[in-house]
Amino acid sequence: MKIHQETEKKIDLLLSQMTLHEKVGQLHQVAPSKVGGFEVSAEEAKAMYEAGEIDEREYEAALNHTALFLHDDAIRRGEIGSFISVQDADMANRLQKIAVEESRLGIPLIFGLDVIHGYRTIFPIPLAEACSFNDGIFESSAQVAAREASEDGVNWTFAPMADIARDARWGRIAEGAGEDPYLASRFAAAKVRGFQGKELSDRDRIAACIKHFAAYGACAGGRDYDTVDMSLPLFYEIYLPPYAAAVRAGCATAMAAFNDLNGVPCTTNRFLLQTLLREKLGFNGFVISDANAIRECINHGTARNEREAAKQALEAGLDMDLGANVYTACLEDMVNKGELAVQYLDAAVRNILRVKFALGLFDHPYADTPEKKRTALCADHRAAARDAAKRSIVLLKNENRTLPLSKTANIAVVGSVANDRQAMLGTWSFTGSAAAAISLVDALGMRNASFRFVPCCSETDPLDEEQLQKALEGADIVLAALSYQASGEAQSCCHLTLPGDQSRMLETISRCGKPVVSVLFNGRPVAVPEVVAYSDAVLEAWHLGTEAGSAVCDVLFGDYNPSGRLTATFPNASGECPVYYNHPSTGRPRGAAKWTSKYMDSPLTPLFPFGYGLSYTTFSYGELSLRIEGDCVTATVPVTNDGEMAGEETVQLYIHRRCAQRVRPVRELKGYQKVFLQPGETKEVSMTVTKDELGYYAVDGNWDTGESDFDIWLAHDSTSGSKGEFRL
Ligand code: BGC
Repeated sequence: MKIHQETEKKIDLLLSQMTLHEKVGQLHQVAPSKVGGFEVSAEEAKAMYEAGEIDEREYEAALNHTALFLHDDAIRRGEIGSFISVQDADMANRLQKIAVEESRLGIPLIFGLDVIHGYRTIFPIPLAEACSFNDGIFESSAQVAAREASEDGVNWTFAPMADIARDARWGRIAEGAGEDPYLASRFAAAKVRGFQGKELSDRDRIAACIKHFAAYGACAGGRDYDTVDMSLPLFYEIYLPPYAAAVRAGCATAMAAFNDLNGVPCTTNRFLLQTLLREKLGFNGFVISDANAIRECINHGTARNEREAAKQALEAGLDMDLGANVYTACLEDMVNKGELAVQYLDAAVRNILRVKFALGLFDHPYADTPEKKRTALCADHRAAARDAAKRSIVLLKNENRTLPLSKTANIAVVGSVANDRQAMLGTWSFTGSAAAAISLVDALGMRNASFRFVPCCSETDPLDEEQLQKALEGADIVLAALSYQASGEAQSCCHLTLPGDQSRMLETISRCGKPVVSVLFNGRPVAVPEVVAYSDAVLEAWHLGTEAGSAVCDVLFGDYNPSGRLTATFPNASGECPVYYNHPSTGRPRGAAKWTSKYMDSPLTPLFPFGYGLSYTTFSYGELSLRIEGDCVTATVPVTNDGEMAGEETVQLYIHRRCAQRVRPVRELKGYQKVFLQPGETKEVSMTVTKDELGYYAVDGNWDTGESDFDIWLAHDSTSGSKGEFRL
């Protein structure tokens, strides 16, 4: 975000007119729940009431879904700067009218919501969408979400999540672009462009929020909210780049993470929020806490009470309080008593007002009237979702050309998830609707495929052997829909194997002598070697959103040749986590010999590596050629489509620095490019890396681009490729 002197002057004027009370109001975001932007459930409301956190009136309003009507007077008094959870233009306009027309200074509210992978039209979860390696898709799906959300009065989304995740036990791995900092950086920047557009004030754009700053994905043991302890070089090289990329792309807001980083809660971490975010990265927007996180500093034990937590957070650079109501409770009194300098308050208000000005809220505070045609779930948006979904699917195995399916095959479809629309949507899809989603069974029906669906088993329903035998009768081929639904926030799991009897079902099917195609519906890498062993073909279908079923059928029947590549490593067993391709070189690299870095009871290589994915055709790579010009190295390779079907290859550029003071990763992704090839066609693919991009953090903490020998690959995935060497 740019600083405009005109705007700063307007902010100066407002600040000079605001009372202390009104200033604190700007920092207050009203949230229905202590755990985020959802309506509170009856159980949570009861617990809050019993704990004295809400009064009887609020309790009843929570039960009657009328909580949003309780704040009129507070808005009028200038005590509220923002709401999370409004998703209706009439409601937004009603609240906004009070702020603009009835509060003393008429400062507009900003309405935030978690619009993570689509709004009404749900797109693939980020972990899946990243598999498309397609920046155009990353951007356009965010643009569609922004358009639909803005029509319902939403000004601001809490996305993109740019947390690198190397551990599939962490349920929130679903919400980010996976394990690689380069890909995640391109993903985060594209999302910011998609949400915000060129002008944040355009009616169909919304402010983005880079989260969770910082390193939330490295929580110990993959347990959500747990501690993060890491060296600064690891933080700078692996975890920081995606947040930095989003800031460079102009991201208007940031959210501090729940976790502590090296002992200091991110919520009160001045080094993160000031030194790094503002001074080093040049961020000019505002920072919001995560839900209730300011108060949770008391649980961290770094603040003794709410006053201390509020003071630490504000002084660290945390501008807006999401749902803890701690700023409202403490700040005014602390300034009055001389315990807190008003400058901190002014700085936070300034940051928030700057974003409100940039969004154009002072000039156009209202969402368009409901008479205006809504685009939610329109044909164009559904088509975009289907396109993104089919490009996110990863073909993991395809023996004997089992896929694509013949359009006339008699298919036995088993596994309850095949008929489960809700399961298509995945985490953070509360604004979407299962009724609008297309399941696998729906899509097979829409295509008039010859199939019979028998659920047989689910994650929780035991295998019905009789049903299964019936399902197999007369079928040419078996389509097994397999499910691992746990995914998202507070969904950490230490077992990454398929729940229930699903593997046993697959084993039984594999003995019937018919080809078996497994389709996995999940939001994280799973440890499923048995699925691979029992199946002739395996398709990773993630949570692909509203158009999931249609996209899966596009791939199953060969209307689309799969091109997705994994963005997170799949382990053989849960105990392999954390597992990732770009690990530092050890002194005893993994190998068959005993005294090498490996597990005794698991294979040497993961089930599927980063960047992996098959196609219905095969691509071969010719010899790599290198050209060094100035500070740039350009690698070129001819890629040929050797098969009989046109298809798209994702060419990935990896490097390895051979000479460094600090141990370097065995490989690092530094580029990717898609290339579409007709059968028999060859195209040259070239990518350039600069000397700066080849650098690393040396022992003294400086970015070192000193001369070194390098290995370089243009590759199909992180384990293969045409290799070259150079010195730069
Ligand atoms: C999550 C955030 C989310 C917030 C508001 C929190 O629990 O960690 O990612 O934006 O809730 O819903």
